Amino acid sequence: MTHSKILGTGGYLPEKVLTNHDLEAMVETSDAWIQERTGIRKRHIVSDTESTCDLAEQAARCALDMAGCRPEEIDLIIIATTTPDQIFPSTASILQQRLRIHNACPVFDIQAVCTGFVYALGIADQFIRNGSVKRALVIGAESFSRIIDWTDRGTCVLFGDGAGAVVLGASDEQGIIATHLHADGRYRTLLHVPGGPGKAPADHDAWDHHVHMKGNEVFKWAVNTLGKIAEETLEANGFAKSDLDWLIPHQANVRIIQATARKLKLPMERVVVTVQDHGNTSAASVPLALDVAVRDGRIQPGQLLLMEAFGGGFTWGSALVRF
Ligand code: COA
Repeated sequence: MTHSKILGTGGYLPEKVLTNHDLEAMVETSDAWIQERTGIRKRHIVSDTESTCDLAEQAARCALDMAGCRPEEIDLIIIATTTPDQIFPSTASILQQRLRIHNACPVFDIQAVCTGFVYALGIADQFIRNGSVKRALVIGAESFSRIIDWTDRGTCVLFGDGAGAVVLGASDEQGIIATHLHADGRYRTLLHVPGGPGKAPADHDAWDHHVHMKGNEVFKWAVNTLGKIAEETLEANGFAKSDLDWLIPHQANVRIIQATARKLKLPMERVVVTVQDHGNTSAASVPLALDVAVRDGRIQPGQLLLMEAFGGGFTWGSALVRF
């Protein structure tokens, strides 16, 4: 049986850093409030000359390097992003050209907001399992700062920009054990950007391209859902909570992460937390956290990892992985 194995990881954060103290000068907030309610200290923000594809390219090159894989060996690219460079073609098409992958392999973007990377991993895994793809580049990349209303203190303190990537390869060894993907569109207006190119122009918010969020309702949903999906995933695949080596959760708020760890009876030492330095980078958050813990040596070959995410839609999902 063919499995998808993670062969390499990569991450990239734009150079520009925005601290909580910087935000104090922009909206009525304080470093103390942001740290206490979210755990965030700083986030990285794209410059005026950077795009989502620039971030994706850097992360992809790091992952390819670690995997020892040449770009032309890649036969699938999926980029999870809410903030593509263009309406079309896909950011994956732009990246395919930049990496000079001229083998006519399929490339596309997917949109599941903060759950995007986990969705993309699940999709790539299907291609590899059915034998049509041998090496996939799966990326989460966001310039989320571009869709933030920088006068709204309820959202602008939470988000950041970045990209994370993995190279997946077909293998006889176990790798991605299972992915579980979910959505419930009834809750879509609790966290959304109302405008879009396809919306009827007469609709009063067709041109509103900023994030709107009912923070405390999203918080409750995220805590409940992330706890449930972790348990659902372990049980469905015959694992106990104690089998887990690492939880790599979506990095939205440290209080949400701590609540999930408590439900799993997992000490925080076995949870990868980057939210303090990255903020919420949406689709980039899980692969960036994965890359940090792989590169600093915490995550070792053979360990059992659970990645999980929650985001606008609502969407949520998990990936159980033997690294
Ligand atoms: N600085 C200072 N005060 C702020 C603030 C800020 N940046 N943002 C909101 N407040 C105020 C509110 O106006 C409110 O004031 P009031 O009591 O006078 O009305 C007070 O703080 C409490 O607001 P509330 O929204 O209840 O706070 P909270 O404890 O729920 O924390 C969030 C707010 C946004 C940090 C929290 O709800 C959260 O993290 N939600 C989930 C967000 C998320 O993860 N989204 C992405 C999911 S993928």
